[in-house]
Amino acid sequence: DSQLTVQELANKLDKNSSEIIMKLMKMGTMATINQEISFEIASLVASEYGFELVIAEGDNSEELEIETLMEIEEDKEEDLKQRPPVVTVMGHVDHGKTSLLDAIRKTDVTSGEAGGITQHIGASEVNINGQKIVFLDTPGHEAFTSMRARGAQVTDIAILVVAADDGIMPQTVEAINHSKAAGVPLIVAINKIDKPSANPDKVKQELADQGLLVEDWGGEVIAVPVSAKKKEGIDTLLEMVLLVAEMEELRANPDKRAVGTVIEAELDKGRGPVATVLVQGGTLRVGDPIVAGLAFGKVRAMINSKGKRVKVAGPSTAVEILGLSEVPQGGDQFVSVPNDKIARNVAEKRQQIARDEMLKSNQRMSLDDFFSQM
Ligand code: GTP
Ligand code: MG
Repeated sequence: DSQLTVQELANKLDKNSSEIIMKLMKMGTMATINQEISFEIASLVASEYGFELVIAEGDNSEELEIETLMEIEEDKEEDLKQRPPVVTVMGHVDHGKTSLLDAIRKTDVTSGEAGGITQHIGASEVNINGQKIVFLDTPGHEAFTSMRARGAQVTDIAILVVAADDGIMPQTVEAINHSKAAGVPLIVAINKIDKPSANPDKVKQELADQGLLVEDWGGEVIAVPVSAKKKEGIDTLLEMVLLVAEMEELRANPDKRAVGTVIEAELDKGRGPVATVLVQGGTLRVGDPIVAGLAFGKVRAMINSKGKRVKVAGPSTAVEILGLSEVPQGGDQFVSVPNDKIARNVAEKRQQIARDEMLKSNQRMSLDDFFSQM
């Protein structure tokens, strides 16, 4: 197994060895300057300084050697450019999330012209007067829970759909809590206002009971009455999304290797592993070597939310990518790396760690089984 000494790690990181020893102690590892530490431990330390340790196969393929330090590129202020908002729609069952997304998509002239292309990608994009908004079509809660559990945050703004004839329901409250926990701004869409039984004021009262005081009641929460069915209020809602996005000052550096999150992935019979990814920083290009969770590969093709093949995808773009070695998990981070070798090595190292973990937990389980039999 590949190992390196504390001193070697310190040299690679250009840090004082005593500082590295301190870091190790904080992580519960006592080590002296000439002591060898494992790749896993060294990686943890390196990551604290913004580096990823990369293992390279030497001439002797049995022997692994830590060759490169891959810098997790830090963005300089002047490199940051404005980027479009990424929005999730949440709300109680049947309150109109899908209908609202449909209505929103239809306001986009380009998608209208394309004539209802089947939407298999877990995201859609609309253009409002030349300004792009990205909608994640994954069920809203999922975009928060499974992603957040894995440390990924993909949403900039949440739209909370509340049916005006039904009011705040359990899953509405859940959605409010998710967005609060994620620190994501919330815009309320009071839907189904076309219904005779609609009572927007009751919704506003119930929102107030949840600590969300709407603007026309003197609060700060933006609430827009809409009808997804009659396509009313959609423009205003989208204007509000752009307004909030502007206040959030969403920015990213497009001029670096791409980083982002896997939204969803599956094994397609004809095309192999297919992953919908959200590029969050940098620019992804066809031909880029990437690592996504335990998978690696070269981006063979990219398909945008309108079903068109594209060659580049900048920040806040959702694309389907082909060319991965296996199916990554939703919530996995992906990074574009300098070359194929690094991509393969990082993924294989991760696979090995995952196998070891699995083995350990299996052993624990069988031991538990053993004792439960007694
Ligand atoms: P789930 O995905 O099952 O949670 O539901 P959803 O929130 O996506 O709701 P969906 O868009 O499927 O709408 C549920 C029902 O409400 C459908 O029958 C819609 O036609 C109806 N509906 C949605 N929006 C409106 C609206 O603005 N007005 C009226 N009258 N009905 C609506
Ligand atoms: Mg739905």
